[in-house]
Amino acid sequence: MAILEVRDLAVRIGPLTPLDGIGFDVDKGEVLGIVGESGSGKSLTAMSVMGLLPLIGGRVERGSIRFAGGELVGLDEPAYRRLRGRRLALITQNPMTSLDPLQRVGAQVDQVSRLHLKLGPAAARSRSIEIMDQLRIPRAATVHGQYPHQLSGGMKQRIVIAMALAADPDLIIADEPTTALDVTIQAQIIDLLAELVRVRGLALVLITHDMGVVAQACDRVVVLYAGRVAESDGTAAIFADPRHPYTRALIGCIPRDGLARGGLQGIPGLVPSVADYATGCRFAPRCALALGACRASAPPVVAHGSRRIACHVSGAPADG
Ligand SMILES: Nc1ncnc2c1ncn2[C@@H]1O[C@H](COP(=O)(O)OP(=O)(O)OP(=O)(O)O)[C@@H](O)[C@H]1O
Ligand SMILES: [Mg+2]
Repeated sequence: MAILEVRDLAVRIGPLTPLDGIGFDVDKGEVLGIVGESGSGKSLTAMSVMGLLPLIGGRVERGSIRFAGGELVGLDEPAYRRLRGRRLALITQNPMTSLDPLQRVGAQVDQVSRLHLKLGPAAARSRSIEIMDQLRIPRAATVHGQYPHQLSGGMKQRIVIAMALAADPDLIIADEPTTALDVTIQAQIIDLLAELVRVRGLALVLITHDMGVVAQACDRVVVLYAGRVAESDGTAAIFADPRHPYTRALIGCIPRDGLARGGLQGIPGLVPSVADYATGCRFAPRCALALGACRASAPPVVAHGSRRIACHVSGAPADG
């Protein structure tokens, strides 16, 4: 059953419409990847679900965000505050925006279950240490008493994940949770997060610009380009048969073993900025397959089985 259903979401910030027609579902026990280059609308999608758009002067202009059966669009701030942290958790890229440098990390994890689950100090502490153990933080009881500056970047990010898990949320949105870390630590943390999601039966939206992370951890994936959905499907299906030229290009960017960094195949050109979105397909200026039709009108998102694709040129996946 879908815990989160996003339909035709459009977001407005002043005169700009940076998200236009985003849609996806996330089931319990599932990891959904949202992937796209910088500026594709990943963080704004996360902020929309978390009810944080007012912080940047934005609002949902159109569409629906249903969480556990209830509509989130139009929810007032007090109602959102009861959900945030407790049932909906957000993990961001930089752990230092979530951690107080002057407080012991354990106390910060304890606070979450004390506040949201009304646990007493001793119960909260043992819950925190148990979660820190599950996140394979060595000597969790000792680390519980340390300050953020005493921990490595990877350990700090594990503490932030422990804080997200402490209230036993139904859905975690992790916005590039490991981008600041080195590749090995990144892979370990993504694996742990995906494993905990499955073990606990919660749902995870994993935001990344890296198709390698999608392949590693996600059950399904939504590819965003310039504020719209380019393609979505199960991860295995997308990798077996990517249809959208943008999806193909992103898969082409995955570093392979033995390939030097300088030898990576990047995608030529840049994601357009919101103020410069063209009328047709937004990927057309960078697309080797673009036809006249692509510049004339935006391709609608069309469903073929579980595949969703918005492209005038690439049709249905090979198997139907
Ligand atoms: N506060 C804002 N005001 C105006 N435009 C914004 C604002 N925040 C984001 N945008 C624009 O909306 C688009 C999507 O931004 P978003 O931050 O969601 O991208 P992203 O996919 O998360 O990128 P990144 O990988 O760099 O984090 C971008 O073109 C961005 O410039
Ligand atoms: Mg972002």
